[in-house]
Amino acid sequence: MKITLSVIKADIGSIGGHIKPTQQLLERVREFVENNGKGLIDDLYVSHTGDDIALLFSHQKGTGNEDIHKLAWDAFVAGTEVAKEQGLYGAGQDLLKDAFAGNVKGMGPAVAEMEFEERPNEPFLFFAADKTDPGAYNLPLFLAFADPMYCPGLMLSPAMDKGFKFTIMDVEYTEGDRIIELNAPEDLYDIAALLRDNERFVVESIHSRNTGEIAVAVSTSRLHNIAGRYTGKDDPVMLVRVQGGFPATGEVLAPYSIGHYVAGFMRGSHTGPLMPVRINSPVSYFDGPPLVCCHAFCVHKGKLTEPADAFDHPFWDYVREKVARKAIELREQGFSGAAMLPYSELEYGGIVEKMKRLDKQFKVRG
Ligand code: F6R
Ligand code: MG
Ligand code: MG
Repeated sequence: MKITLSVIKADIGSIGGHIKPTQQLLERVREFVENNGKGLIDDLYVSHTGDDIALLFSHQKGTGNEDIHKLAWDAFVAGTEVAKEQGLYGAGQDLLKDAFAGNVKGMGPAVAEMEFEERPNEPFLFFAADKTDPGAYNLPLFLAFADPMYCPGLMLSPAMDKGFKFTIMDVEYTEGDRIIELNAPEDLYDIAALLRDNERFVVESIHSRNTGEIAVAVSTSRLHNIAGRYTGKDDPVMLVRVQGGFPATGEVLAPYSIGHYVAGFMRGSHTGPLMPVRINSPVSYFDGPPLVCCHAFCVHKGKLTEPADAFDHPFWDYVREKVARKAIELREQGFSGAAMLPYSELEYGGIVEKMKRLDKQFKVRG
């Protein structure tokens, strides 16, 4: 059976700043999809990560389907009403356009979708991150799909011996989707050369070279590029098929023990380590730290199991402690150097005005 998994997520308001949505808001969004998605979707899972609400749909309509996208858009619009009634902070924040135009891409919400022939057993992972952007997944994906130090399956499993094809998008280009396809292992150094720049080059999808099947789909939108100004961070979602001809769940999770530094901490303008957290976690310290959660599912004939919470294990408590330490160590240098993002990535226009004013005050000494 051919199925489609679609994750569509948006920040439409939260409690106490950018911490998390209310229960009432989550319920309204869920109820809207349940009432209006009959006959359209096979299953639904609603969750939040920090201030973002994600809808995971299983359906048979293919990717980019207008009815599915409209269902999500309308659910977020309905939720925004509740967010306004409750006086939530940033109500409707990620709904950047007034009217739905066929596809939520380019309208604010983030989307990750994949269509495939369901295996007899079909395990997959759904990642959601907050206070960061889609490049946050670059390094973990590179290590899980191209580096035998993290993914021994690349050496041990004949089902993966041809490696994987990376489709990488230049997210600075706004006229359309500017992409490049590169193969691991042959193009490893080229892939690394692009993926080191998390703000510009982002893994969009990964395919098995043994079977041609899709393994990974990442949301690639940059709100900054859609709105032309700061409207919140992109807070990316990702789907990853695992086991068999794909990396094992543990191989995909392993790189998150690094807590690598990513963009998006406080005001979307600082660098912070990516902390793997339990599902439905809020944000806290310095509006962060940037966080990622992972729901592990099986899907069968379009029906989802309940999720297993992949980062809810004593091992990850140790990692969280290490990542907290990394966060504090970088925070100790405040605005200086590597702690803050480069000028082009600062998510507040105020500094541009400030620099213009100061520029005029400069004098060249004779
Ligand atoms: C929001 C975020 C926060 C805000 C900060 C200021 O996703 O990352 O760090 O940027 O709380 O928020 P505003 O500008 O809405 O007052
Ligand atoms: Mg927000
Ligand atoms: Mg967010």
